[in-house]
Amino acid sequence: MTKLPNSQPKLLPILIFLSLFSLHHSSATTLSIGVNFGTAANNLLPLSKVAHFVETQTIIDCIKILDANPDIRKAFANTNISVTFTVVNSDVPAIVELPAAKSWVANNILPFHPQTKIDLIAVGHEILATENDTLIDHLLPAMKALKSALDSANVTDIHVSTPHSLGILAKSEPPSSTGKPSHPS
Ligand SMILES: *[C@@H]1O[C@H](CO)[C@@H](O)[C@H](O)[C@H]1NC(C)=O
Ligand SMILES: *[C@@H]1O[C@H](CO)[C@@H](O)[C@H](O)[C@H]1NC(C)=O
Ligand SMILES: *[C@@H]1O[C@H](CO)[C@@H](O)[C@H](O)[C@H]1NC(C)=O
Repeated sequence: MTKLPNSQPKLLPILIFLSLFSLHHSSATTLSIGVNFGTAANNLLPLSKVAHFVETQTIIDCIKILDANPDIRKAFANTNISVTFTVVNSDVPAIVELPAAKSWVANNILPFHPQTKIDLIAVGHEILATENDTLIDHLLPAMKALKSALDSANVTDIHVSTPHSLGILAKSEPPSSTGKPSHPS
């Protein structure tokens, strides 16, 4: 048995968990590298240290937060890291109503904005892949209500989007799956 070197053991879980989620050109000259950030890993560093580490020691410049934990939502305040907040799937049906969307914004965005550079709200997580008709049917209305709620709070610099897995491109397999309409109208 080889003994594992134990220098910097605590950074390891973070780096493993910070899996790459996107590479996109945010302008002609800058390249953004993003990671998903959550608390499903053990032995996480204190959040402020993670934020500091990400900002100063990596080339990562945007973070997607899958978690509604306010401590995580605050961790990247006053850094130059762009952050994506996520509406958890179970909240999606409720926010189709404008008052509910407004209170979601009031509770989840306004306390953190603009100290945290929130550039995007991701509505749900891979909702089409859940094959849950309630979630799928409410997705677009929820996105529209959220946009209206942001507008009425005068927040104009946050975009609303929804992430999907590549799995949604493979709906024709197996052939029997085509017997059932995937989008009843
Ligand atoms: C953010 O970036 C700007 C411009 O590059 C820089 O002046 C500022 O000090 C940075 N802020 C932090 C908190 O690093
Ligand atoms: C679909 O999602 C909603 C909201 O999370 C949940 O209440 C419901 O039980 C789910 N339906 C199924 C069939 O899983
Ligand atoms: C949004 O901006 C308008 C025009 O500047 C202002 O009348 C309104 O009170 C603002 N609303 C909020 C919620 O800040």
